Amino acid sequence: MIDHLRPLPEPVPGHADSVIEIRDIEKVYVLEGGPVHALKGITFTVRNGEFVSIMGQSGSGKSTLLHVLGCLHKASAGLFLLDGVDIAELDDGQLSRIRNEKIGMVFQKFNLLTQEDIVHNVALPLVYAGVPRNLRNDLAQRTLELVGLGDRLHHKPTELSGGQSQRVAIARALVTEPALLLADEPTGNLDSRTGEEIMGVFQALHRTGRTIVQVTHDREKAEYSQKIVHLKDGLIERIEVVERPRQAPIVKLGESAE
Ligand SMILES: Nc1ncnc2c1ncn2[C@@H]1O[C@H](COP(=O)(O)OP(=O)(O)OP(=O)(O)O)[C@@H](O)[C@H]1O
Ligand SMILES: [Mg+2]
Repeated sequence: MIDHLRPLPEPVPGHADSVIEIRDIEKVYVLEGGPVHALKGITFTVRNGEFVSIMGQSGSGKSTLLHVLGCLHKASAGLFLLDGVDIAELDDGQLSRIRNEKIGMVFQKFNLLTQEDIVHNVALPLVYAGVPRNLRNDLAQRTLELVGLGDRLHHKPTELSGGQSQRVAIARALVTEPALLLADEPTGNLDSRTGEEIMGVFQALHRTGRTIVQVTHDREKAEYSQKIVHLKDGLIERIEVVERPRQAPIVKLGESAE
């Protein structure tokens, strides 16, 4: 417990503009049948306010990279500065704190608690952050309004469509106002129109200055972002700048956007 109280180290000077800076990141999974070298030396930067996609074939290391960026896995080698903080220096308590404070994650499966209404689902990260109950519900409601679900607050996840469920998961990821939103195949379980709607939510969030990194194997979805990191066999094949990103139909965020 005491670990949770230790302050995070000071940011490394000179990195104020980048939310993610990784250099020569490697990840080796050690298995009985031998090691799997999932990431073999990845270097790139995500600046504050960028919307970036990671693409590549199945097994190329996309989810592994996202898990490292989300501090769910520690890299086996290399440098990772998150919001200027050197992740390798953190103990487990500091790591879970930085995850709670700075990162929101969205997955292909929405991972919602089906027995609880969506306000409670979205408020959950605030419980871990030690926010008092009244404030928690208030913040959760406002974040649900932000993603356009203000009229569904007391629905349970089973009473929502797939696109609405993913909006709940996005609200849950955003409720702590993280520096970084990470998404692993966020539209993988959705039909193409609903997937486009979720891209609209991401673009609206991006316009309000949020930093987003999404993993997708769908070229079309990647083109909603500004930059595509192409992975192949655990290495970056190339980094592509999307000159004119696709524009999803405009999603108007709720009033708490600013
Ligand atoms: N927990 C694990 N233990 C051992 N090996 C793993 C583990 N997770 C992933 N791998 C291996 O690491 C490599 C990269 O996997 P990863 O899940 O990152 O790929 P991916 O690009 O996300 O693929 P997909 O598009 O299918 O989701 C694969 O060879 C995979 O088998
Ligand atoms: Mg994956």
